[in-house]
Amino acid sequence: MATDALVLDGLDAFYGDSHVLHDLSLRVKAGGVLGLLGRNGAGKSTCIGAIVGLVKSKGRGMTLFGEPILGLSPERVSLKGVGVVPQGRRIFPSLTVHENLTVAARGRANGGWPGWGLEDAFAAFPRLKERQRQFAGSLSGGEQQMLAIGRALMTSPRLLLLDEPSEGLAPQIVAEVAGVLKELSRTGLSIVLVEQNMKLAMEVADEVVILNNGRLAHAGPVDTIRNDDGLVEQLLGVY
Ligand SMILES: Nc1ncnc2c1ncn2[C@@H]1O[C@H](COP(=O)(O)OP(=O)(O)OP(=O)(O)O)[C@@H](O)[C@H]1O
Ligand SMILES: [Mg+2]
Repeated sequence: MATDALVLDGLDAFYGDSHVLHDLSLRVKAGGVLGLLGRNGAGKSTCIGAIVGLVKSKGRGMTLFGEPILGLSPERVSLKGVGVVPQGRRIFPSLTVHENLTVAARGRANGGWPGWGLEDAFAAFPRLKERQRQFAGSLSGGEQQMLAIGRALMTSPRLLLLDEPSEGLAPQIVAEVAGVLKELSRTGLSIVLVEQNMKLAMEVADEVVILNNGRLAHAGPVDTIRNDDGLVEQLLGVY
């Protein structure tokens, strides 16, 4: 079995003529959590878009558990087991919680990794079960984020990409999100966590990559930034 969940090798990404990611290489170990950090505009969401086939990209290669995925459509990448929690959540506000989850359902039978059903999502997020008949647009911000995570899990991913799940949430809710992500990691799910919340990233991630102007600026175990305030201040602008 491949020991890497995801490998990007020399990836460049573009919006039309605008060249945003430059020669980006990174890897996510199978079962690992990679924190993808960087200031506003560093290219984090572009990187997520490139992985899932939404942003035009080229490079030496991109593999998911050893299988090439560079150039595949978003549908094909999703079917291969990549789930996404997009920036800003993008739940369907006029559908109920139940409907938001079931539209994403792909069933338990999958390509040899654990699948998720509605009961699994409700077991992970009991509050969503209580509110399953409620319109998603009427949920609190934290509940909407849990729904966005639940919806991504309903696609039965083996790699989960989360784009700033803590954005706009109170510290107590961020702590809940951290707990959920750590629990998911314990099940063996591989995770890429895009974050500007350093506390969350350092609590959940085991490896970190910092982007700066679309380029790799730092990569290593999370401890390499935990003890380096200068690096963090220089590349992220926070202490
Ligand atoms: N659809 C687009 N068309 C053209 N340029 C874009 C598009 N989306 C993003 N960009 C540009 O690409 C660069 C990287 O943006 P990106 O959204 O990836 O940053 P980010 O690290 O996710 O930032 P944030 O933390 O603010 O979400 C920015 O210069 C941005 O202006
Ligand atoms: Mg972004």
